Amino acid sequence: MPYKTIITEVQDHIGLIRLNRPDALNSLNAELIKELGESLREFDGSNKVRVIILTGSEKAFAAGADITEMAKKDFNSVSNEDFMGDFQNNFLRIRKPIIAAVSGYALGGGCELAMMCDFIIASDNAQFGQPEINLGVMAGLGGSQRLTRFIGKSKSMDMNLTGRFMNSDEAERCGLVSQVFPKKTLMKEVFAIAAKIAEKPLTSSRMIKESVNRSFEVSLSEGLLFERRLFHSLFATDDQTEGMNAFVEKREPRFRDK
Ligand code: COA
Repeated sequence: MPYKTIITEVQDHIGLIRLNRPDALNSLNAELIKELGESLREFDGSNKVRVIILTGSEKAFAAGADITEMAKKDFNSVSNEDFMGDFQNNFLRIRKPIIAAVSGYALGGGCELAMMCDFIIASDNAQFGQPEINLGVMAGLGGSQRLTRFIGKSKSMDMNLTGRFMNSDEAERCGLVSQVFPKKTLMKEVFAIAAKIAEKPLTSSRMIKESVNRSFEVSLSEGLLFERRLFHSLFATDDQTEGMNAFVEKREPRFRDK
């Protein structure tokens, strides 16, 4: 499907979505939000895609929600349309793993978008921040909630209250990102990581995504029970038989998503 604000492609079962509003540093306007939602749903439903990469440009993953659009809104309009509500809820319904490949600015809604993905891999020029306070508002897409779970209260308060930016070293140190690579090799490295995930049985990767994400929603005992039941259910798949037999027979498994 042709899009105006994003570029999509599929390579070796990896679905790539590249945010593409270079003149506005990939800020999230209504059109981009709509197209991003459509492309994610399309990839989630496609048997050609097993893992999704979401990225931007070298200069900006996304510099936040589009401020020129938001400047026209008032309390009644954002409240009545539940601004960002559907976008977030629909994003969270995607069941395939999503990797955020972040280069440059990931600010405000951009940082929040990266955190809505399943994990973040950053380049050494990445800058994360929740600078909404400078606009007279605050985070509204997870910046005070997910960020706190990622990096703890003290740093989250610091980021949200001062609006300062965090570089990739600090982001890796405090657990916001899983790995950092030089800007020039970021996409090669992220594709290699995605390729590794794409080789695995899809039912397992979907359930792992659900289980890790569930850990943020429920108590430890409920989470452990949920995890154990998913683990048990995977014993109903042919891929479990194949994976374990291949290990015992000292050969590579041939997973068939059955
Ligand atoms: N919404 C709309 N437009 C944005 C934008 C946003 N969130 N962020 C950047 N842009 C636009 C700029 O207005 C500028 O447009 P112009 O060329 O028509 O003037 C263009 O993108 C380039 O940005 P510019 O500010 O000139 O680049 P820079 O390298 O000097 O600074 C940033 C980069 C990211 C530090 C700066 O653009 C910025 O602070 N952006 C806003 C970040 C923010 O507050 N995000 C949270 C929003 S909720």
